Formats: sequence, C-alpha cells, structure tokens
Amino acid sequence: LPLTVPRRGLPRCVHGGDVWSASRLLRVSVNEVLDFSSNVNPLGPPPTVLKALTENYLNARFYPDLKALSLRRLIARWIGVNSVNVAVGNGVTGLIYLFAELFVRRGEAIILAPTYGEYEAAVKRYGGKPLYVYAKGLTAPDFDGAVKSMSKRVKALFVCNPNNPTGSLTPAKTILELVEAASDRGIYVVLDESFIEFTDQPSTYTLIKEAVKRLNLLVLRSITKPYGIPGVRVGYAVASEEVIRLLLKSGIPWSVSLLDQVAAAAALQDPGHVERARQLIKSERPFMLEELSMVNGFKPLTSNANFVLVNVEGCGLTSSRLKREALKQRVLIRDCSTFKGLDKFYVRLSIRSRRENEFCLKALRRAVEKS
Ligand SMILES: Cc1ncc(COP(=O)(O)O)c(C=O)c1O
Repeated sequence: LPLTVPRRGLPRCVHGGDVWSASRLLRVSVNEVLDFSSNVNPLGPPPTVLKALTENYLNARFYPDLKALSLRRLIARWIGVNSVNVAVGNGVTGLIYLFAELFVRRGEAIILAPTYGEYEAAVKRYGGKPLYVYAKGLTAPDFDGAVKSMSKRVKALFVCNPNNPTGSLTPAKTILELVEAASDRGIYVVLDESFIEFTDQPSTYTLIKEAVKRLNLLVLRSITKPYGIPGVRVGYAVASEEVIRLLLKSGIPWSVSLLDQVAAAAALQDPGHVERARQLIKSERPFMLEELSMVNGFKPLTSNANFVLVNVEGCGLTSSRLKREALKQRVLIRDCSTFKGLDKFYVRLSIRSRRENEFCLKALRRAVEKS
C-alpha cells in the first residue's frame, strides 16, 4: 500500500509571546524585542530559579520523578491543600488537553468567548464540540447564557478568571453558583486561574479550597506566569482526590522534565517575587489605562489583571496593522483578531515597568500619528 500522510491537520491556536518569530523578522536578538504580548511577571524569573538550575543541571542524566512528588508537596504546602489534591502538568495548557481527553472526548464543552483559544483547540483535538457563549459586552462573561446552554450533551464548561483577553474578574460566589448549576447536570467545570496572582486580592477570588471538596470543579494554576518563566513548562491542577488520581494515571509520562520540576520548585521559594510584581501592576495599570485612553482613537477596557484590552477602531488602524507598526519599533503587542468574539480592532498589552510602559506607549503613539 502507498504511504499517505493525513491531509487534515489538527486545529492550532494563535498565541502571544512569539519573540522568536519577531526576532527573526527584525534580525535582532530576542532580548531586543520588548514583549507586551504575553502576560507574564514583568520582573522576569526570580534569582532562585537560576541558582537551582545551575546546581541541578547534572541531574539531567536521570529521568524525572514520574510522580513529581516533591514539587507537588511543595505546591500543596504553599497553597494550603493536601498533595493528593495537586497534579502537575506540561503547563496549564498541557492540563487543559489532558482534561479534554479524559472528560470531554466526543461530548460538548461550553466556552465563554472571548477567551483563551486552547480550550477550543483541546476540545476539538479529541473529537469534541465547542459551544460558544458570547459575552454581551466585554465587561463580564455571560454566565446566565452558559447555564441556559447546559444540555445533556454538555460534558464540561471552561471558565477563565480573570479572563484573557478582557481582564474581567468575577467574584468567587458567582462562579460557585455556576459550578453548582453544572453539578446538578453532571457537568465538570475547569476554572483557569492562570492570572489570579496578578489581581489585587487573589485569596478572596480563588476557588482552590472549593475544588478539593467538589467532584465537578478543577482549578488550574500557573507557574509560568506569576514567576516569569514561560520557557519552563509547568502548571498545576487542584481538584478532588479522585480527579487528581485520574489525571496522574493518565498523563504522558515525564511530561514535566527534571529541570522544569527543579525550576518550578525553586520559583516557589521566592513568593516575595510575585508580591513585588503585584504591587508593580497595581500602580502601573492605572497609569497605562490613563495614558492609553489619551491616544487618539484608543478605548482601553477596565482591567483587573496584568494586561489591558484596547479597542483601537477609532485610530484608523486595524489591530494587525498596529501590531506591524509597533513591531517596527521592536515592541511586540497581541493582535486579538484571532479571538472568537472580537473583531479586527482589538489589541492586548501586558503591564510592565514604568520605563517599558512608556517605551510601548511612545511606539503606539508614533504608529497612530503616522497613519
Ligand atoms: C488563560 C490562560 N491559561 C493558560 C495559559 C498558558 O499557560 P501555561 O504557560 O501554563 O501553559 C495562557 C497563556 O496565555 C492563558 O492565557
């Protein structure tokens, strides 16, 4: 039989943070691209990570701990739950795919658009069907719409809090009501809290403590974003013991490398690093919102996260054109036209240090003035 390669590819999601393509295009080093398109800690990695990687690189001659036990114990202690309620995976993204494979498969999953694109891609990968519930404005996801869409075919619901790309933050009580409505109908809720540590009061919004008590709630938390190490692929899930046992049994072996485990554990040794970023974002976000609203034709949305979504329709440039113009000045921004539920006039900017924010604002003003 002749060999054939399947024609149909799997859905791919577009991401921010592609400093590699930007540096190739500009013919400069990645260090010369100022990345406002991925929403990670603007302070970069804590020094504890570099030290631990240097001290441990020779251990790369061993396979990683299959159970990632010491990292799971460390995370559990850090967030105040038991280690049987924590699983680690190849980034939050790896855990989203694992969840879709185990819990959605050929069923339907509700997605509160606009939101992170990997929920859709993961659901489709395993033959499932995404059901989009679009926000009526961009200030909050449409939770009533989500409840109305909970038919017998629906297996899961993805919620992102605070939401990417809108930056809206939903009170814990509202999400719990949704979790209860889902529970009555046998639906699992994945609550992606990847950005929660950048909000002003993470502990009043997180549902980690609820996840260990409820069978239908799985909370996903990031290591890459709060600790500024997206090149290290680790994220974690918090859920009931039963759900965690299933995840641990089913993931691809060694999907979190030994050096990933070392780096993540070292990052957790410096919680003050996240606190410093939170304070920086708290003071820089109002500055960015104010300055952006003064750019001709820009309308930034209120945000509770470490990034801002901006409607740029009035400036006469589309988001992709604005991205190109900013990139010429070595500033990488997120063109949001690939988000379901947004048109070609939205860009997303992360919040960074004052000097970097001013550099970005200057690049955007120049791009607008030129048009
Ligand atoms: C909502 C959300 N979850 C998860 C991720 C990816 O996290 P990780 O780097 O842990 O895979 C992103 C990245 O942009 C995101 O926006």
